[in-house]
Amino acid sequence: MTQGADAEEAERDADATTDAAPVIETHALTRRFGARVAVREVDLVVRRGEIFGCIGPNGSGKSTLMRMLLGLLPPSSGTARVLGCEVPRDAERLRARVGYMPQRFSLYEELSVRENLEFAADVFGLSRRARQARVAEQLADSRLEEYRDTPAAALSGGTRQRLALAAATTHRPELLVLDEPTAGVDPQSRRDFWAGLFQLAAHGATLFVSTHYMDEAVRCHRVGLFSEGRRVALGSPRSLVGTLAGRIVDVDAERPEDALALLDRSPHVASVTQLGERLHVLTRDGAAGEPIEDVARAIEAELEASGLEASVEPGQGQLEDLFVDRLRAAGRDEAGGGSR
Ligand SMILES: Nc1ncnc2c1ncn2[C@@H]1O[C@H](COP(=O)(O)OP(=O)(O)OP(=O)(O)O)[C@@H](O)[C@H]1O
Ligand SMILES: [Mg+2]
Repeated sequence: MTQGADAEEAERDADATTDAAPVIETHALTRRFGARVAVREVDLVVRRGEIFGCIGPNGSGKSTLMRMLLGLLPPSSGTARVLGCEVPRDAERLRARVGYMPQRFSLYEELSVRENLEFAADVFGLSRRARQARVAEQLADSRLEEYRDTPAAALSGGTRQRLALAAATTHRPELLVLDEPTAGVDPQSRRDFWAGLFQLAAHGATLFVSTHYMDEAVRCHRVGLFSEGRRVALGSPRSLVGTLAGRIVDVDAERPEDALALLDRSPHVASVTQLGERLHVLTRDGAAGEPIEDVARAIEAELEASGLEASVEPGQGQLEDLFVDRLRAAGRDEAGGGSR
């Protein structure tokens, strides 16, 4: 896959310009559950201060990968080093240096915000004095002061996630593993949450975060896209979207629903999404060599041949297009017998 190679190359360039030691390094990391391969031969390097995004459909292995990195789940084969510790062997040494927000975070519902933070401080062995100071600091920094005596169960989604993040960072971890930390949270609260993540990264923390939100994925320094346990794309959002250059057209059609149905069956079209009145179209790989203007004209002609007046212009690729494209390609490889 040449597009994959482009992204890998972009990534090597990025690696070459930084001398930071890897915080996460995996080789052929694999985890099976019976016959199912949840994580398949994943190679990954994440560097200090990086915000690394893990994206992929439900069941693609993101949470399983995270649990292996944290030493909570032994790999079936392959190796992982995290902050210089081999996991799961040295997981105990790692514990005080990492923070983890699991996908279904269990705050202590009946405990107040303050008590939850105190509990987290106790777990990480802060002294009584240090605990008091740290909890006060976390309440202020995370804007939780006004909820200090509110039980976690009574918090709104956004506030809950702020508390969960505060609890996970009580001990100032060097690496934070966040599994879909903003699922179901409103856009403004997600923005605030991400502002907090950037601040942590600016202070030297490394973040390994999974998300289904593309607006969050594009905020990561680099993303890995996973499909059925395999890493199928890796690179900065920009470099990945760059590999789609010349494959996107936007269609303004008089009857968008009819145009969509027609384009869905078109040999030029890989995928089509309706965005309000417009259609956003990813053209097939085969069209990559052709100037995009020619592809646009061909699509316009196709629509007009069916009596659909339309204007078709080259458009901007989005990370979501890349996502769709790579998952289709991965599905094709799999359907073609796969490599194992
Ligand atoms: N403890 C387990 N026992 C058996 N199968 C498991 C276990 N944990 C995960 N799996 C399977 O491994 C695969 C990967 O699951 P995982 O939870 O890692 O995916 P995910 O990418 O985190 O999905 P989501 O986006 O829904 O959170 C799935 O098919 C899942 O059913
Ligand atoms: Mg998961």
